[in-house]
Amino acid sequence: MKKLISISMLSADFTRLGAHLQEAEKAGTDWLHVDIMDGHFVPNITMGPDQVAQIRKTVDLPFDVHLMITHPLSYIERFAKAGADTITVHVESPDDTDACLDAIEKFGCHPAVVISPETPVDAVKPCLDRVDMVLVMGVHPGFGGQSYIPETTNRLKAIRQMIDASGRDIRLEVDGGVNFKTLPEILDAGVDTIVSGSCLFKGDIAENIRKFKKLF
Ligand code: DX5
Ligand code: ZN
Repeated sequence: MKKLISISMLSADFTRLGAHLQEAEKAGTDWLHVDIMDGHFVPNITMGPDQVAQIRKTVDLPFDVHLMITHPLSYIERFAKAGADTITVHVESPDDTDACLDAIEKFGCHPAVVISPETPVDAVKPCLDRVDMVLVMGVHPGFGGQSYIPETTNRLKAIRQMIDASGRDIRLEVDGGVNFKTLPEILDAGVDTIVSGSCLFKGDIAENIRKFKKLF
């Protein structure tokens, strides 16, 4: 499976967002990772579907929307209509995961699930017959710029095995703490979709993306 970079806009310069994202697009990022936080599921707040719809007009990149919200089911339609391509829901959310995946498919997006660091990896097993991607958090969700939790690598390896055993084409994505130092062991664990924010947006984006892709 082709390896992809999904740049996390959380670390972009919001005072000149359109231009900054266009710079990332030109520099060769494959996807745009859009973090949605509600101040309840995680202790931070970002934006809603109206802002995503506006940002959608600034770049042609596929939108990889990561919902860190308590009730994703109520918002899937609006994020899909705002221009999401992939929508990822936390298995820890109180909403029924299958119902969320049904809604994501119904509104024409790729369905994906994500697990937080304290959730056992087996939690993704029941979804493997229907998701297009599994996301594994490398940090506690809520903030960019945190350090990678080392145990994540074993969790990624375990999920890689589950995906291979399923026989389905499912992307394995990691989010949080990915930088030039942690990327090699993350790739070794079988990840094909890399979310990174603070590392890629710091300094020269084009040079950072080139350096990432060199490690692929
Ligand atoms: C954290 C977010 C991440 C975050 C990653 O809750 O889901 O997408 O932006 O940021 P870095 O790459 O700085 O760890
Ligand atoms: Zn994210």
